[in-house]
Amino acid sequence: MLIAQLSDLHIAPGEQKTFGVAPMAENLQRCVAHINALKPTPDLVLVTGDIANDAAQAEVERAAAILGRLDSPFYLVPGNHDNRRVLSSVFGNQVCPTSVDGFIQYEIDGYDLRLIGLDSVSHASPGGELCPKRLAWLEERLTQADERPCVIFMHHPPANFAVPETDIDGFLGAEDFGDLVEKYGKIERILAGHIHLPAFRTWRQTIISTAPSIGMRLTIDLTLEKDSQFILEEPSYHLHYWTPEGTLLTHQIIVADEKAYSFAYEPAQ
Ligand SMILES: [Fe+2]
Ligand SMILES: [Fe+2]
Repeated sequence: MLIAQLSDLHIAPGEQKTFGVAPMAENLQRCVAHINALKPTPDLVLVTGDIANDAAQAEVERAAAILGRLDSPFYLVPGNHDNRRVLSSVFGNQVCPTSVDGFIQYEIDGYDLRLIGLDSVSHASPGGELCPKRLAWLEERLTQADERPCVIFMHHPPANFAVPETDIDGFLGAEDFGDLVEKYGKIERILAGHIHLPAFRTWRQTIISTAPSIGMRLTIDLTLEKDSQFILEEPSYHLHYWTPEGTLLTHQIIVADEKAYSFAYEPAQ
């Protein structure tokens, strides 16, 4: 089973670049074309939030027009730059199903992995949150017997990554979420985004991986003293391969016009 993960699209409206400099719509087009050309074709594509840059309908419609060209089915969860109502109205219930409490939380059926999407958007801050209602929904899901390993996908990583976006902004409900993760086990991985960096860490008997943004990489300052800035980079995404022996193996794919060279070196005569 093969999963492509796109994150932090930050699409601007119209023909605009994001913050005037980042060609995120063009980057998304390049990622979509690259994913469509993969062999084997991914079983599905997960888009882990910040689809829009400013929660606007025009931004989401622009993103939807590009994501609609994916050959694989795709699903998304919201980020702190998104508006749930706008996402639902543009993408519909197939792409971002809404749970009974109005959150975009759902389970995707029919694959070798159990896939659960969580809505980590907080009304209080740009940081993450899983409130009691969302956690109760998750616990009700996890209590249902299922022998498959589980992958949770969400926008905010629920633990610190030595960037202000996690360590300073925080994540309300992370402790209770971690208790559920440990109690039910079999959480192979938590796939997140939000920090615009490819990074991995262990947490509560599982692994959290964060996917890169498709072109706006966060600067790193482990002292947490400087405000975050971003660097323009080639678009990239994560490719998660669930292997026949049962492990989730992740590669970062960089979408660039690169020449490949053979390892068979032939010295010039
Ligand atoms: Fe983001
Ligand atoms: Fe975010």
